[in-house]
Amino acid sequence: MSNVRPESMERITTEALAQAFIAEQVAAVKAQVGDKKVLLALSGGVDSSVVAALLIKAIGKNLVCVHVNHGLLRKGEPEQVIEVFRNQMDANLVYVDAVDRFLDKLAGVVEPEQKRKIIGAEFIRVFEEEARKQDGIEFLAQGTIYPDILESGPVKAHHNVGGLPEDLKFELVEPLKFLFKDEVRVVGKALGLPDNMVFRQPFPGPGLGVRCLGAITRDRLEAVRESDAILREEFAKNGLEGKVWQYFTVIPDFKSVGVKDGKRSFEWPVILRAVNTKDAMTATVEDVPFALLQHITARITAEVKGVNRVLFDLTPKPTGTIEWE
Ligand code: XMP
Repeated sequence: MSNVRPESMERITTEALAQAFIAEQVAAVKAQVGDKKVLLALSGGVDSSVVAALLIKAIGKNLVCVHVNHGLLRKGEPEQVIEVFRNQMDANLVYVDAVDRFLDKLAGVVEPEQKRKIIGAEFIRVFEEEARKQDGIEFLAQGTIYPDILESGPVKAHHNVGGLPEDLKFELVEPLKFLFKDEVRVVGKALGLPDNMVFRQPFPGPGLGVRCLGAITRDRLEAVRESDAILREEFAKNGLEGKVWQYFTVIPDFKSVGVKDGKRSFEWPVILRAVNTKDAMTATVEDVPFALLQHITARITAEVKGVNRVLFDLTPKPTGTIEWE
C-alpha cells in the first residue's frame, strides 16, 4: 500500500468529516481483517487510543488491546485506560502489570540512552509474551500517523512495536496513517473519547523514566509522579490546560539541605517545566503567574514525600531541550 497521503483527501476539521472518515475506515478494516483477531499495544496516548476506539467500532472483541503498565506512566493513566476501554467501551483489554519487571531491569542504570533501550526492549518482550498467549491473532494494529511516515520533527511517537520475532510478524492495520495529529484528535472526539485523552499533551514513550534523572528509584519516581499530578491539577484549575503546550516536573538525583518541622532535612528538589512550541524544534517558556508558582511550590513541598525545594526552569530551547533526560 502506498505511503503517500492521497491528494484528494480532504483535511478532517469537522465532526461530519470525522464521521465520514470513521465510516470509511470501519468498512476498510472489516474488509481487511474479516473475522480474524487483531492485536494492539494500547498505551492510552492519543494515537493508540483513537485506533482502539475505531477498531472496537469495526470488529468489537476481535480487537485484543494490551495495556502494559511499565510503572513510568503518569498518575491515573492505567486506571483511565481500564475505565474508558474496558468499562465504557466493553473492549477486550488485557492489562499487564509489569511495574516490577521494568523497575528491576532499570535499577542502578544511570545512562539515559541505556535507560531508553532497556524500556524499549522490555516493552517488546512483555508485548511478545502477551501476543503468544493469544490464539489466532493474524493482524497487528498500530497508531502510526502521517508525521511518523514523514519523520518530521523530534516528537517521534514510538508506536512501532518493531523487533517482534519472525513467527510473530503480523499483517499491519494502520487506519490513521494518513492523518495529521489535529485530525486524529477530531476523529477521537467523534469516536466519543474523553477530552483529556484526545487533547493530551505530548508524553515521551519512556514516560517518567526520562524525568526521573539518573538511576530510577521507586521513591523518586513516586515523587515525580505526585508532583506532576499536582502541576497538572493546578494548571487545569487555573485555565492553563490546553493553553500551554507541555508542562511537567523533573526530579534530579541529588539532595540539598532544607528545614522541615524545625529540623535540617536532606531532600530532593523538584523542577517545574512549562513550554510552548509549534514543532518542538524550538520552545519558549510559559510566563506562569508568580502566585501560581508559589501555590504549586507550597503544595508540592507539603504533599510530596522527600521533596524540600521547587525550582522553575526558565530556559528556552535552545539552549535547553524540552526534556531533561
Ligand atoms: P526534546 O527534549 O528533544 O523533546 O526537546 C522534544 C519533544 O519530544 C518529546 N520526546 C519524546 N517523545 N518519545 C516520544 O514519543 C521519546 O522518546 C521522546 N523524547 C522526547 C518531548 O516530550 C518533547 O515534546
